[in-house]
Amino acid sequence: MPADQLIQDAAARLRAAGVPSPRVDAEILAAHVLGVSRGRLAAMALSGSAVTDADAERFTDLVAERADRIPLQHLTGLAPFRHLELRVGPGVFIPRPETEQVVQVALDQLASMAAQRPASWRPRVVDLGTGSGALAAAIAAEHPRAEVHAVELSAQAVAWAELNLAPLGVTLHQQDLREVPEGWESSFDVVVSNPPYIPAGMVPREEEVRVHDPEIALYGGGADGLTMPHAVIETAKRLLVPGGWFILEHAEVQAAALAAHCRADTSLSQVSTHQDLTGRDRATSAVADAEPVAGVEEWRA
Ligand SMILES: C[S@@+](CC[C@H](N)C(=O)[O-])C[C@H]1O[C@@H](n2cnc3c(N)ncnc32)[C@H](O)[C@@H]1O
Repeated sequence: MPADQLIQDAAARLRAAGVPSPRVDAEILAAHVLGVSRGRLAAMALSGSAVTDADAERFTDLVAERADRIPLQHLTGLAPFRHLELRVGPGVFIPRPETEQVVQVALDQLASMAAQRPASWRPRVVDLGTGSGALAAAIAAEHPRAEVHAVELSAQAVAWAELNLAPLGVTLHQQDLREVPEGWESSFDVVVSNPPYIPAGMVPREEEVRVHDPEIALYGGGADGLTMPHAVIETAKRLLVPGGWFILEHAEVQAAALAAHCRADTSLSQVSTHQDLTGRDRATSAVADAEPVAGVEEWRA
């Protein structure tokens, strides 16, 4: 069968099933089955190239699964994230495009911190609730001087993260992000996190998210979903060196509450809200200040 016809039929089937980007998904699945890039696939479609019966059958099976709203990334086993292709599948949260922007803010911060320190400086960075390892992997790849650690509680997520992080030299720790192991206090320069933050009553509408993203990755706890984001801030304060910096992702509606929470904390300063590429307030950062040394303020006065 001609590749072009196969893709058109698949796109129509996915559209009928309510898949949000039917043509793109059909092309990505076809490119995956044929082992070619989407550019090469477009050239094949234009030149009227045919697909073998075996490939057409495999493609049709995958399209049927996608029409059943199995996430595209579970079918290809890959999720693009910045310059990386992360291995993903059942049991791990699929990284989202908006998190790429959180990484960019963290990389900019690392660059500005590095500019004020000796060339030999190796920042210690930790990603809390790493999932597939997205933030940790991207930072390790794009700021190679960093010593990067990643924390994750779910055993299933850890299995995927291991695949993505080991080749980049990131150290993975299976532990609760609310706990601070011995020796970790005041030892990191940067903390990054995309924690669970969906409020308990807000069940996601998209089937791919509701059914296939693990619950532990979605719900932040409490009516406002902010229990885990607050826990990330508390842990970050303990992990950071004086002058260290953290950033966490959240929902747009949580931005004002999280900024107010950080501003009310006298051990934090330079609280900033960051936008995603569509201009929505999707991340908050702050600097952990040095604890005032007992007696010094009185002496100054
Ligand atoms: C929204 S997902 C984000 C995953 C990844 N950081 C990303 O952006 O793709 C939140 C992650 O936090 C993990 N998590 C939830 N509670 C945790 C806890 N108490 N300690 C450590 N990790 C936790 C979940 O398993 C999940 O992988």
